[in-house]
Amino acid sequence: MYRIASIGGDGIGPEIITEGKKVVEAAGDAYGFGVAWEDFDIGAERYLSTGDVLTEEDLSELAKFRAIYFGAIGDDRVKPGILEKGILLRLRFHFDQYINLRPIRLLHGVSTPLAGKSPDDIDFVVVRENTEDFYVGIGSRFTGHEKKTLDVFREMYQVRFGLDVESDAEEIAYQIGVITREGARRAIKYSFDLAGKRRKKVTSVDKANVLSEVYGLWRDVFTGVASEYPGIQTEFNFVDAVTMWFVKNPEWFDVVVTPNMFGDIITDLGAMIQGGMGLAPGGNINPSGTSMFEPIHGSAPKYKGMGVANPFATIWAGAMMLEHIGEPAAGAAIVSAIERAIAEKKVTRDMGGSLSTSEVGDFVASAVKK
Ligand code: IPM
Ligand code: MN
Repeated sequence: MYRIASIGGDGIGPEIITEGKKVVEAAGDAYGFGVAWEDFDIGAERYLSTGDVLTEEDLSELAKFRAIYFGAIGDDRVKPGILEKGILLRLRFHFDQYINLRPIRLLHGVSTPLAGKSPDDIDFVVVRENTEDFYVGIGSRFTGHEKKTLDVFREMYQVRFGLDVESDAEEIAYQIGVITREGARRAIKYSFDLAGKRRKKVTSVDKANVLSEVYGLWRDVFTGVASEYPGIQTEFNFVDAVTMWFVKNPEWFDVVVTPNMFGDIITDLGAMIQGGMGLAPGGNINPSGTSMFEPIHGSAPKYKGMGVANPFATIWAGAMMLEHIGEPAAGAAIVSAIERAIAEKKVTRDMGGSLSTSEVGDFVASAVKK
């Protein structure tokens, strides 16, 4: 019996999590385990009525679980950033979920916009470092008269624009990225261990030619870790180039390890090449703590409650969660059941089908038992 926390969240989040739970339970029936869910009421609705984004109590209760099954957050009535930073990013940071694991895999029967590419060509994993880089939240925004103004900004204003930086009308913002040796090491090491179980290649993504401090350190750490894994092939790609190669030669990639922000960007590209956001799952992993599994798409508020949301990304995230907690066969069976649904056109409208969210969930749940 596994105890798992669940957070439906906002928009389509609760509907897709309902289907994901249904499928995880069906996999439990087939593979001989049970799941006891504990649902947490966290999201826009509670924030709007109580003002609470995430409470200390939420955090201490969630800490009792090895896994959280997470739907989506984001609501038109709340200023962008409050829930995203206050819930999703806070959970990732609080539980030190330093790996954001995002498989880019074209399932059988799914069409990709990449001409001539098949499931054999599109099967890699992005390991996105999940706690550092430009996500650390260090920065500021201020006007000229505030004495926080640094000399470097004063110079930018006066030299470049001929303006007086001390004037209130002038405004500057900055935000910095941070890479630590240990933060980079643990994400990079995770990707080498993962590659050892796959096709034994790791690609590092950075922009060390311009952001040479932060990604210079990243590269040094990568080189050091690589020397401990002589059997693994390695390469460096700049982030701009990697977007080109994802499209042109996705078959080159096995494990791609990347700092946080580039990982955010390239996994939306990855989602499209594997058939769209409806098919893109992710795991926020702390190998020795509380991990969290989610579809990488958002809450799509305009489809809320309509029964049209595609539940596959969430169901697949449930499969990753089962693999993580020690039920890899059940996880693999779920992914095969998704492929069965696709083969039999038991899909939602976005994939050219006519089924509702819950009908797709029912189909996958019954396919997983067979
Ligand atoms: C993602 C999302 C989040 C991120 C946002 C919602 C904070 O885009 O999971 O990729 O930037 O990580
Ligand atoms: Mn993103």
